[in-house]
Amino acid sequence: MRLSVNVDHIATVRQARMASEPDPVWGAVLAELTGACGITVHLRGDRRHIQDRDVRVLRDTVAGVLNLEMSTSDEMLDVACELVPDMVTLVPEGEGELTTQGGLDIITNEDAVRCAVERLQAHGIAVSIFIDPDVVQVGRAKAVGADIVELHTGIYAEAEEADEVEREFEKVRVAAIAANEMGLAAHGGHGLTYLNIGPIASITEIEEVSIGHSLIARAVIVGMEAAVAEMLALLDAGE
Ligand code: PXP
Repeated sequence: MRLSVNVDHIATVRQARMASEPDPVWGAVLAELTGACGITVHLRGDRRHIQDRDVRVLRDTVAGVLNLEMSTSDEMLDVACELVPDMVTLVPEGEGELTTQGGLDIITNEDAVRCAVERLQAHGIAVSIFIDPDVVQVGRAKAVGADIVELHTGIYAEAEEADEVEREFEKVRVAAIAANEMGLAAHGGHGLTYLNIGPIASITEIEEVSIGHSLIARAVIVGMEAAVAEMLALLDAGE
């Protein structure tokens, strides 16, 4: 299973002082040199962490897949169509949220999502949609023309009781199988850690995971290369 490293929280530390360090671009280089298949950044409307400059520099420096997470707003669509990352992941974005809250509900946002998918694909950008692990949403993602679905693993990650963990894990697994059957690539992400990645790594239908907070938290202590290498070992062990 491939690992895309989300470097947003390197930028969070930088923005805490409105300084120039640490630079997420530096972290991205180290992550890729250690074996990450690519880099993910979320350019938020509020520019809380990642800045436009980061996406521009990463566009020129990321060797693997640069995945830009963003909302379907016109502002973000303009940025994506100008910078042309390899891939865009469409996410819901709420004011004041600490992190992305749940998957994008394609059913209630169908027109905006369909227009975004068409516009991005016309620029040669692969489009992923971040959705709850729900077969109906997978079907809607297919209907609006997405290439990939990123299945929200946050509820699985937060589950505490064993039966709840099992139930939420099963939703992710079933949604991944459904995605593959519909011809969509399945990715996973949100809330994944060194402790809960094992079962997700065993889902062969999921090609790739996107991990940010836990990995950057570990990198602060042990360094980026060690943090990425440890996660890659866990992903390999699951296969
Ligand atoms: N995938 C999506 C769509 C996200 O919005 C985020 C958070 O930015 C992640 C994955 C990574 O989540 P985490 O930081 O919990 O690993």
